[in-house]
Amino acid sequence: MSWVKVASAQELDNDEAKTVTAGGCGLALYRIDDEFFVTDSMCTHGAALLSEGYVEDGCVECPLHQGRFDIRTGQAMCAPATVNIRTHLVKRDGDDVLVWVG
Ligand code: FES
Repeated sequence: MSWVKVASAQELDNDEAKTVTAGGCGLALYRIDDEFFVTDSMCTHGAALLSEGYVEDGCVECPLHQGRFDIRTGQAMCAPATVNIRTHLVKRDGDDVLVWVG
C-alpha cells in the first residue's frame, strides 16, 4: 500500500479529465477548482471511460449515454447511471499528483 504518482499538476487544466494508471487499474483524474480527484474510469453502466467524459459543475458526464456522476463523492446523479463509481484518495506534493493504492 502506498502513494503512487499518476501525473504532474500542470498536465490538467480545471474541468479536465485524464486517464491515469495506478496499481494496474485505469483511473480517471480530474481537476476542479485547482483540486484533484480520482474515480474509477470505467462507467458503472457500460463500457465507456469517464476519463473521456465532459466535466462540468463538479460532475462528469459519461460519453456513451450521458449518465452523470459527482466527481467528489462518486454518486450517480442521473439515469441511466444508477450505481455509484468508486473514488480514490488523492494528494498533491508540489507538482506531483499522487493516488493511494491500497
Ligand atoms: Fe456510461 Fe451508459 S455507459 S451511462
